[in-house]
Amino acid sequence: MNLIQQIPLLHERRILLGVSGSIAAYKAADLASKLTQAGALVDVILSDAAQEFVSPITFQSVTGRNVYTDVELWASEGHILHVGLAENAELFIIAPVTANTIGKLAHGLADSLLTLTALAVKCPLLLAPAMDAHMFENPAVQDNLALLRQRGVFVVEPAEGRMASGLVGKGRLVETWELIGHIRRQFGRRGPLAGLLFVVTAGGTQEPIDAVRAITNRSSGKQGFALAQAALDRGAEVVLIAGPSHLQTPIGAKRIDVRTAAEMRDAVLNEVDKADVLLMAAAVADFRATQTSPEKIKRSKGVPQIQLEPTDDILALVANNRRTKGWPRLMIGFAAESEDLITNARAKLLERDLALIVANDITAHDAGFDVETNQVTLIDAEGGVQELPLMTKVEVAESVFQRILRLLELSE
Ligand code: CTP
Repeated sequence: MNLIQQIPLLHERRILLGVSGSIAAYKAADLASKLTQAGALVDVILSDAAQEFVSPITFQSVTGRNVYTDVELWASEGHILHVGLAENAELFIIAPVTANTIGKLAHGLADSLLTLTALAVKCPLLLAPAMDAHMFENPAVQDNLALLRQRGVFVVEPAEGRMASGLVGKGRLVETWELIGHIRRQFGRRGPLAGLLFVVTAGGTQEPIDAVRAITNRSSGKQGFALAQAALDRGAEVVLIAGPSHLQTPIGAKRIDVRTAAEMRDAVLNEVDKADVLLMAAAVADFRATQTSPEKIKRSKGVPQIQLEPTDDILALVANNRRTKGWPRLMIGFAAESEDLITNARAKLLERDLALIVANDITAHDAGFDVETNQVTLIDAEGGVQELPLMTKVEVAESVFQRILRLLELSE
């Protein structure tokens, strides 16, 4: 299943994509394609130099829409084309943007359809530079970018890496998923959760036994990461506390990596005081070894007897603090159950003073740990029970956030 197809935030959003002349221009075709698949309406403007690398038909094919070049600028309708494109756009992203175009934008030059439109837009302008090593650090480029930032332009810093020239340095266009993350952040900024702080936990913890072995579980972190992204899409500030995971950090989230349940507890207690909502999606270990060996336990020493002790119940600790401090306003938990789903999940909700619990039947096929999909039942403190169908974890996150908005008495 292609998760890029599911970005409700981008549905029918009118995005203007400007492409200037860099070898990274071919990556802009991937961006145009992914944005279109996500539901956005993407109009593309190519500079003359961009067309040395990619052709209008490439973009036309992936967006199914018109692509604009300086040929259209000089046609009979040309004198109003940039105004029309600018008026229509909800976001203007120029990716890749070259040192030359950055210079023109900083100084208000308007010698092409791309630069004319950049002057005419009222919507947010996002720049994703790409240039060869040493050029990005050049004070001329840096000063121009500083000037643009001062004027409210958002700059996505290029990545370090190998350039087409073979040199290594800072100047590579960031990956498509990152560009989409920044675009989501721009659209989300004005969302209903703007000004609120969400602490989201994700993934499983690892409790060490010796130098290399640990007690852990199969949680992938996907559900928690999807929840963090759903909060960002609605404008929230997000602290994502994650057990070991290779998943990409959603753009805009502050990520804190932890390994053990004790580290997760400390991170949560540290962050939650300032939070409006705590979303505990992590599969925290309930037990850890009473003693750990700093060396690898040798097989020749015989089968070790591992004594376990309970870890702290993080939600219970936060619920306790909340009685005196009043924060966080809402606590939302997950329940991984293999029997008596509703009864057990409801007991967890009541014990920990939760507003909502997302209950998983972990014995169900295609649901729960380590898969793309999930089948959950939402149980709230008022006794409401809503069984959702099998969905992707991204869709589950969307449904959970519809409930959270209602709990916070906000609307989309
Ligand atoms: N949780 C927690 N601290 C722990 C264990 C779990 O805060 N040490 C949180 C989980 O993040 C989840 C909720 O408590 O939101 C329920 O976790 P779950 O593993 O389903 O239940 P447990 O309370 O651990 O009970 P059991 O394992 O007996 O089902």
